[in-house]
Amino acid sequence: MNILVTGGAGYIGSHTCVALLEAGHTVMVADNLCNSQAETLERVKQITGREITFYQIDVTDEAATNTVFASQSIDGVIHFAGLKAVGESVAKPLVYYYNNLVSTMVLAKACQKYGVKRFVFSSSATVYGENQVPFVESMPLLPSTNPYGESKAISERMLTDIAKANPDWSVALLRYFNPVGAHASGLIGEVPTGIPNNIMPYITQVAKGKLDKLRVFGNDYPTVDGTGVRDYIHVLDLAEGHVTALDKLTKGVHVYNLGTGHGISVLQLVKAFEEANDLHLPYEITARRPGDIAECYADASKAKRDWGWTAKRDLVDMCRDAWRFESVSKEPSP
Ligand code: NAD
Ligand code: UD1
Repeated sequence: MNILVTGGAGYIGSHTCVALLEAGHTVMVADNLCNSQAETLERVKQITGREITFYQIDVTDEAATNTVFASQSIDGVIHFAGLKAVGESVAKPLVYYYNNLVSTMVLAKACQKYGVKRFVFSSSATVYGENQVPFVESMPLLPSTNPYGESKAISERMLTDIAKANPDWSVALLRYFNPVGAHASGLIGEVPTGIPNNIMPYITQVAKGKLDKLRVFGNDYPTVDGTGVRDYIHVLDLAEGHVTALDKLTKGVHVYNLGTGHGISVLQLVKAFEEANDLHLPYEITARRPGDIAECYADASKAKRDWGWTAKRDLVDMCRDAWRFESVSKEPSP
């Protein structure tokens, strides 16, 4: 299939481009590079030996987006393009709502205009809020505490309504848990701008000596050891979940969790990282981070049952690959 990947130069998008190309699909990327580098796409080409058509456009720009749809025969869209920093979304709600909602509307309109009927959307486990774990797709969603989470929940609702009104469309709403790790080549991975918010890039920068120590946000949660529990999933497993979604998707709107189904605490992650890479990671326990929940992990059975998809890589792979990207690779310059 000919797949338009918006946000394809970003962290999850670039790994998904690799998985799509390796599965034999043709890939076009639309990205404005607001949080990524064009060099990443060169590295995707290097890994796969395949070409990518790149459009440096903002997908909130309807005219520019329509130009891509008019000039290409597109079988499906995977919409990764979005802003994702939770704290920043609280400070700049309008920027987040505008970018994340208008991009989805512009793409849906273009799909309607040009007869593209497959749409895969990047949602997030954040839409479950503080529900009971494990999170199941059928749970009623709880309001988010931040504009980023709301922009995902609203996009889900918009796409659900659009799919209902267009019964020949196939829409997947994929709720990601915590993607970590990198391609085993060390050529592509997560390149955060500034001090990382998410734990794995923070850990790799501590290990590298760029940051002094990890701050563990709270050890008084009602969890296995008091620290926050998350469902970490290797980014390549997540990427392959998108290839499966395109392959298996049927008409209608379908919601799937993409997680492993296993909850890992912060201290368990630290220990796994130390053991996988044979190094010592300094840390201290600090106060809870406002907005954090105690536990977040998936019921991952629906994707397995319907699509035969499960995450294949384990925590050791995640820790090793994340560290390889930080320690030996030459990151694309920010
Ligand atoms: P990322 O920032 O690495 O990638 C997003 C890409 O989209 C970047 O290359 C950026 O330049 C591009 N982009 C943003 N707005 C754009 C616009 N208007 N037009 C064109 N390009 C634009 O982020 P990521 O981690 O790869 O996340 C991809 C998607 O998955 C996002 O929608 C994010 O909200 C969602 N998600 C991510 C996580 C996570 O932990 N990384 C978890 C759940 C959901
Ligand atoms: C964060 C976002 C969430 C988003 C997800 C994936 C917040 C409040 N939530 O979730 O909306 O979907 O990323 O992008 O930002 N931790 C530390 N020290 C650190 C960093 C994190 O102890 O320096 C802990 C956190 O308290 C948490 C766990 O590590 O228990 C994972 O944190 P993080 O990687 O930021 O992801 P989430 O909190 O799950």
